[in-house]
Amino acid sequence: MGMKFDRSVLIKLLLMQCLSVLSAAQDSDFFYLVHQVTDGTAMSEAQDFDFFYFVQQWPGSYCDTNQSCCYPTTGKPPSDFGIHGLWPNYKNGTYPSYCDPDYPFDESKISDLISSLQENWASLSCPSNNGSTFWAHEWEKHGTCSESVLDQHGYFEAALDLKSRVGLLQILQSAGINPDGGFYSLSSIRSAIRNGIGYTPGIECNVDEEGNSQLYQIYVCVDTSGSELIECPVFPNGKCKSSVEFPSF
Ligand SMILES: *[C@@H]1O[C@H](CO)[C@@H](O)[C@H](O)[C@H]1NC(C)=O
Ligand SMILES: *[C@@H]1O[C@H](CO)[C@@H](O)[C@H](O)[C@H]1NC(C)=O
Ligand SMILES: *[C@@H]1O[C@H](CO)[C@@H](O)[C@H](O)[C@H]1NC(C)=O
Repeated sequence: MGMKFDRSVLIKLLLMQCLSVLSAAQDSDFFYLVHQVTDGTAMSEAQDFDFFYFVQQWPGSYCDTNQSCCYPTTGKPPSDFGIHGLWPNYKNGTYPSYCDPDYPFDESKISDLISSLQENWASLSCPSNNGSTFWAHEWEKHGTCSESVLDQHGYFEAALDLKSRVGLLQILQSAGINPDGGFYSLSSIRSAIRNGIGYTPGIECNVDEEGNSQLYQIYVCVDTSGSELIECPVFPNGKCKSSVEFPSF
């Protein structure tokens, strides 16, 4: 999936193999090595990244801080988790960024997705804006690092598709965890989501004006195709207390 195939390396290996066959190597070795190459395991730079974090944000927690927020020019977003981004990551916890300055954000390439982005990937930053700057930032910082797998349209479409399949608010509410300004144990939030999607999420908190820990962002891990959920190889440092507030929005 998504692996670049370097023909020159294959040809070199085949030539090496021909030589070793000539020098009486066993046929089974030949097939073994070719198999390794087609699997990508013999390649040194087959993969740009190891997995994606798909990050959703609770708008009530973004807004409920000393910095506050600004609703988009298109109006107050739905009372639902919104997309923050789809971020290529390495298993060691670091991530690539700004991978291709020659592939800038181009809104005309995603014109069919704009209304869905306005609803599901709204910008709450100030001053009030229409979201384009946020999407451009996400594409240029993160999306360009997975362009071997997803072009610009495919990148935004993959995130919107994940959002429609990972319905976090519904999952939490069915477990009795509601955005009502109440406090919930971090472990109950984590297990509700694990029960709902089958995988353990990463959970990140921020603090409100009074210094309360609140449910801010939820990370789920996705394979390098951008479509299948996987167990997270590594979790972000979530900075949550054991009991966290779920503010209304
Ligand atoms: C993490 O892994 C990536 C990809 O393998 C590598 O380029 C990077 O140097 C590693 N960073 C650290 C801090 O180990
Ligand atoms: C958002 O505003 C920018 C100018 O600030 C404009 O170039 C862009 O076309 C607008 N996009 C949408 C979807 O309204
Ligand atoms: C938010 O601002 C108020 C007033 O300036 C201050 O007292 C409070 O400590 C700040 N809260 C946090 C979490 O920084």
